[in-house]
Amino acid sequence: MTNPEAERHTYQRDAQGVIDSPSLYLEWAETPWDTAVFGFPVLQINRLEVRDQSAVQDYAFFETARDRLGVRLVSCRLPHERLRESMLLEDHEFRFIEMVYQPELDNLHARDLPAPSLDVALAKSSCLPDILKIARHAFRNERFRLDPRLDPKCGDERYCRWVENSLGHPSQRMYAVHEGSRLIAFFVNEMLADGCCYWHLNAVDPEVQGQGYGRRAWLAMLYQAKKSGAGRVRTCIVARNHRALNVYARLGFRFPPPLMTFHWVREEMPPEPHRCRGSVGHKGKALR
Ligand SMILES: CC(C)(COP(=O)(O)OP(=O)(O)OC[C@H]1O[C@@H](n2cnc3c(N)ncnc32)[C@H](O)[C@@H]1OP(=O)(O)O)[C@@H](O)C(=O)NCCC(=O)NCCS
Repeated sequence: MTNPEAERHTYQRDAQGVIDSPSLYLEWAETPWDTAVFGFPVLQINRLEVRDQSAVQDYAFFETARDRLGVRLVSCRLPHERLRESMLLEDHEFRFIEMVYQPELDNLHARDLPAPSLDVALAKSSCLPDILKIARHAFRNERFRLDPRLDPKCGDERYCRWVENSLGHPSQRMYAVHEGSRLIAFFVNEMLADGCCYWHLNAVDPEVQGQGYGRRAWLAMLYQAKKSGAGRVRTCIVARNHRALNVYARLGFRFPPPLMTFHWVREEMPPEPHRCRGSVGHKGKALR
């Protein structure tokens, strides 16, 4: 460490840290659920603010910490207009991966929703194998699956584990949507303290997509959110998922400005890959 100004404001505990200097604010933490899936340490930059031109010098402290931990993947999500920050990332080998939207339907109490045409219930553990079968094939547009530098199987595994862990999660809840005995869709939701029902993950069984079940399942889940007292529903969708965007647009969700996602990947292979091991729940704040 050579910059005494930045050093004064830098601290690090295990795999998390903050640089808070006059030039740069950068806060990072390990995402242990991703580390468990990929078999090497994975970090997430949770906040990034470039304050002046010298930010680049202070950024070097993050690189030192990252390399000391043997990190091979770092994610960062930024509001769409943070171009100084995105340029700093791009100058340091981050690659743009996607834009995401976080559409919201508010004022749920006052909305007149049709009675559900599909059955919604908390998922039982006996449903888990069928739900995992959907989850393993449904998330084809997601960043861990599409970044060509990452193993797509680890991407699929990540979403399966998220689904699996939601069954015992303290605040996330998994719902199954059925037509008779046929599983149509699943949702992993979380009721936030401000009365927002956040939809983390959801999918229609690929075998019945394109037959109108998506709209019916989403309407049934809005009904369920209203019934459980939510004032609004919010989710996160990658912009390339145009089918999902159409579902939300037609249901009347509003689209605030998007966010950009970046990945930094150290590409050389570890000597002995030990991928997709262990099981760690999504207890922190996961980026979809
Ligand atoms: C997105 C998804 C939920 C849509 O479910 P679906 O059962 O195929 O959708 P439906 O048949 O009910 O169609 C509902 C609407 O989706 C949109 N849609 C469906 N297929 C589409 C396509 N091929 N192209 C564009 N829009 C499409 C349309 O707006 C359609 O309504 P319309 O036919 O009245 O125009 C489903 O594709 C899915 O589960 N995808 C994988 C997981 C995922 O993306 N989850 C959402 C993440 S936020």
